[in-house]
Parts: sequence; structure tokens; C-alpha cells
Amino acid sequence: MNIHIHPTHEALSRHAAKLIIDILTQNPSAVLGLATGGTPKRTYELLVEDHRKNGTSYQSVTAYNLDEYLGIPAEHETSYKTYMKRTLFDHIDIEPSQCFIPDGMTDDADRECLDYEDIIDTNPADIQILGIGRNGHIGFNEPATSFDSLTHRIMLDEKTRHDNARYFSTLSDVPKEAITMGIKSIMKAKHILLIASGKAKAAAIKAMLEGPVTPACPASALRNHDHVTVLLDEEAANHIKEAT
Ligand code: GLP
Repeated sequence: MNIHIHPTHEALSRHAAKLIIDILTQNPSAVLGLATGGTPKRTYELLVEDHRKNGTSYQSVTAYNLDEYLGIPAEHETSYKTYMKRTLFDHIDIEPSQCFIPDGMTDDADRECLDYEDIIDTNPADIQILGIGRNGHIGFNEPATSFDSLTHRIMLDEKTRHDNARYFSTLSDVPKEAITMGIKSIMKAKHILLIASGKAKAAAIKAMLEGPVTPACPASALRNHDHVTVLLDEEAANHIKEAT
């Protein structure tokens, strides 16, 4: 694992954007695994800026997202599809048919999960971006999810629902279920880039890097992957030991 500690969220976002742009420069048909949430937002803004200024193209890129809420239409304000369109896809030259996100309105979630895993197998990610939940979740893989999990339907932790309530009018509007790539699906990526910012993430980062490798901390699974980059700001890195 390569761990980098930056003074600010801005600096870590610049580093993350550079890693992604370097991959696209070397391989214009790269496959990007994408995440939502507040943490990667600035990275996506920087990718858009770079696309406008330097013309980095996404015409041949395939992208897929980690997860989507169940029961929310794709075009709804709070869907992850809407987040991705507003934050990134609508501002770059990516082919919409090459952007995959689980269908939150599917009437056959099992089929949807199997089909999604096929997309991942056909297009292993050159880089998979990840945030981390306060409880150590990655994607929506909540604590106790098996390290062997593929794309699946999951009940959201109450902590996760509270954390994500800021995007909804009330807590009761936050869906209780989601479809998420599993931990094994995430581990299929050639390179995993986890970014975390702020003191609310410090305990999860310590557990991921220094605690036992256990489903109790889903992000600890990343210690079994041979190409992981972790970008932290000082607050998120606050609890880890010098030696780490
Ligand atoms: C959600 C997403 C995760 C994300 C997490 C942290 O639960 N499903 O993929 O990593 O939020 O989000 P934030 O970056 O806003 O803290």
C-alpha cells in the first residue's frame, strides 16, 4: 500500500486527479471505477477542468459506479446516477452508453446484480476510486459483509443512513437498501485509489490500516490487494501511527 498524507482535501484531490489523468494519457480506453459522496467531488471537478483546458478525452473510456440506492429513479435528484451526471458525465465527452450504474428501480435485483458483475468481469477497472464510510464501509459494503461478496443487494446501516441524510429532505427519505459492488468485485480492479478527508474518517482509516483484516472493517480487505494507493488529508490521518 502506498499511503500519502496531504495537508488539505484540495491537495489530495489534485493528487487523485493527476493519477487518473496519467492513466487516461497512457491508455485512452481505460476503465474507471467511480465512487460518489463528498470526498471525490473535487477530484471530479479537477477532471472536468483538465478536460476543458487540456482536452483529455473520455470518448473511449468505460466507467462504472460502485453502488446505487434501491427504490430511487435514475433521474431523481438524489440518485447516484444524477450525482455522476451533474458532477462529471455531463461535462466531459464520455459516451453515456459506456457509463454503468446499477438500476435502482429494477424489479429483479438478483438479475441486475448478476448482469452488473458481468460488466465488471468484461471490463476490469484500471483504477477504482473509493471513499470510506465512518464505519469502514467501501461502496455500500457495510460491516460484516463477506470478503467474497460480488455485486449484491444490501440493507444500509443506520450510521450510513444518517451520514447520507444530508442529501435528502428528511432521514425517512433515505432509502434503506442499495445495490453495491461486492468486496470481491472491488478487488478485481488493477489499482485501487482510496481517498479520505476530515476527522470523522480518522477512526475508520486507523481500523483499515492498523486493525485486524476482518469483515468488521470492510476497507481492511484492501490490505489483501497488491496495488492500493491511499490519499489522506492530515485530519483523516490523525489517528494512524508514524510507522504506518
Ligand atoms: C456513501 C457511498 C460510499 C462513500 C461514502 C462516503 O455511503 N456509498 O461509496 O465512500 O458514502 O462518502 P463521503 O465521501 O461523502 O464521506
